[in-house]
Amino acid sequence: MTTASITMADSDLAIPLEKGLPLIGCLPEMAKNPIDFFKRLVQKYPDCVEFSVPLTRLALITSAELSHQILVKENSRFRKADRDMKIMGSLLGTGLVTNNQHDSHKVQRKLVQPGFHFRRIEGYAQTMADYSQRYLEDWGDSGTRDISDDMFRLTMYIVSKTLFDTDMEDLSNDSNQIGLAIHEFQRIADSRFNQVFQSPDWLPTPRNLKIKKIRAVLNETMRTMISKRTDEQGNISERGDLLSMLLNAEYEDGSKMSEKQLLDELVTLFIAGHETTSNALTWTFYLIAKHPEIQEKLHAELDQVLDDSSPSFGDLDALTYTEMVIKESMRILPPVWTLNCRQANEEMVLGNYHIPKDKVFFIAPAANHFNPKYFKDPERFDPERFSAENEKKLPRYAYIPFGGGPRVCIGNSFAMMEAKLILATFAQQYKISLDPAQTIDPQPQITLSNKGGMSVSYIKRKRAS
Ligand code: HEM
Repeated sequence: MTTASITMADSDLAIPLEKGLPLIGCLPEMAKNPIDFFKRLVQKYPDCVEFSVPLTRLALITSAELSHQILVKENSRFRKADRDMKIMGSLLGTGLVTNNQHDSHKVQRKLVQPGFHFRRIEGYAQTMADYSQRYLEDWGDSGTRDISDDMFRLTMYIVSKTLFDTDMEDLSNDSNQIGLAIHEFQRIADSRFNQVFQSPDWLPTPRNLKIKKIRAVLNETMRTMISKRTDEQGNISERGDLLSMLLNAEYEDGSKMSEKQLLDELVTLFIAGHETTSNALTWTFYLIAKHPEIQEKLHAELDQVLDDSSPSFGDLDALTYTEMVIKESMRILPPVWTLNCRQANEEMVLGNYHIPKDKVFFIAPAANHFNPKYFKDPERFDPERFSAENEKKLPRYAYIPFGGGPRVCIGNSFAMMEAKLILATFAQQYKISLDPAQTIDPQPQITLSNKGGMSVSYIKRKRAS
C-alpha cells in the first residue's frame, strides 16, 4: 500500500456501491443491456461506482481524471483483466490486444508500430480512396442495400491491401467465410462474457471446438498471404508493407518472431483493423440518415472542398465537418463501447479511493461519453461538439473511442483517415436514407453492431471525376 493510502481515513476511501438485487446484484440489468446500465450509472456517479454481480463486485470508471490515471499515469500498476484475456485470448492468442505481459507487449508494439507511422499511412490513403471509388461502381442511380455488409467488406479489402498487400479475390478463403467466422467468434465471446463460470480452453466442448475451427480459418488466410510472398527457398519478397516488415523483423538478439507469435499478431491486426472501422462507418451512415440537416451540411462541405473530383489524401485537412461527424458518431455509438477491463496488480489509492489488489474496473467510452459533466444533453447527436473550438474545451480522456496510454489503439490514425475517405467518397455521390423496415437494436458485444445489419436506401447526387 502506498504512503498516501496509509494517511487517509478508510471512510474517505470507499467507492460508492450500487447494490442491485439480493444475491444476483446488478447482473440482470448488466446482462440485459450493459450500455444502458452504464449510462444510468454515469448520471448518478460522476467519477466511479462499484456494482455487485454474483460472487464479486466490479467497478465502473465514469470520469476523465480516473480514466487518465488508470490508462496513463498508473498504467504499470494495472493489467488487462484476466477474465477478458482468457476469453479473447482463446481466439487472438498473444497478439497486441491480448498480450498481458508488460515487457513482451512493449517489445511487440515496437516491432509493429513503424507500420502505422504517419508517413506510411499517408501512402495507404490512395488505396483507401481507390477501393472506395471502385466499390461504388455497380451501385447505379438508386437502390437499397445493407450498408453494414458493404462496410465490413470494404474495410476488409482495405486492410488486406494496405497492410498485407493482398487482394481479397486472391485468397482461397473467401471474404464471406472470414466474415462468418468473425461474427461467430463475437457471438461466442459475448455468451462467455455473460457467464459466471468458464470452462477451460482444453475441454473439447462444442464452443471450444468452434473457436479452434474459426482460428484455423483465420490462420489459413494469413498463411496464404505469407506464402504468396515467400519463394521456394523461403526468401521473402519485400513489398514495403506491414507484413514484409513483420516477416523480416528481428528482436534485439537477432532472433525472429516464432510462427505462432507472427500469426497471433497478423490475426489480431486483421480483425482489429476492420471490424471496428466498419461499425464506426455503419453507425455514421445511420446517424446522417436520421439527421437530414446534418447530412445536408456534410454534402455542402464535400461539394465545396472537393468540387467534382474524388476525395484524396490532400483533401483530408479541409474536410473538417466530415471529421466532426465521424467523431460525434463514435461518441454516441462507440464501436468499442468498453475497453478491456483493467485489474489492479497491487493494493493502492486511486483518486480518493482505496483499491484492493486484483480489483477489476470497466473503463468505457459508453460511460465517459455520456457523462453530463463533459457532454451536455449527451443523447443528442451534435457534431458541433467537435468543432476545433469546442473540442479544445474537452478534458483529455473524456472522449476515449481509441482508449489511451501505452495500450491506445495502434490503428487510430489509420482508422480516422480511412473513415474520412470512405464517408467522403460515398456521401459525395449518394444521399442516404434509412430503410423504414430497418429496426435499430445495438448489440454490445466486443464491438457495437446493429442486430440485423443496416438497410439503407440511396439516391445519386453526383458523379465524381
Ligand atoms: C474506428 C476504428 C477503431 C476503433 C474505434 C478502435 C478502438 C480501439 C480501442 C478502444 C483499443 C484499446 C483497447 C483497450 O485498451 O482495451 C484498440 C486497440 C487496438 N487497436 Fe484499434 N480501433 C479501431 C481501428 C483499428 C485499426 C484500423 C487497427 C489496425 C489496423 C487497430 C488495431 C488495434 C490494435 C492492434 C490494438 C491493441 C493495441 C495495444 O494494446 O498495443 N484498430 N482499438
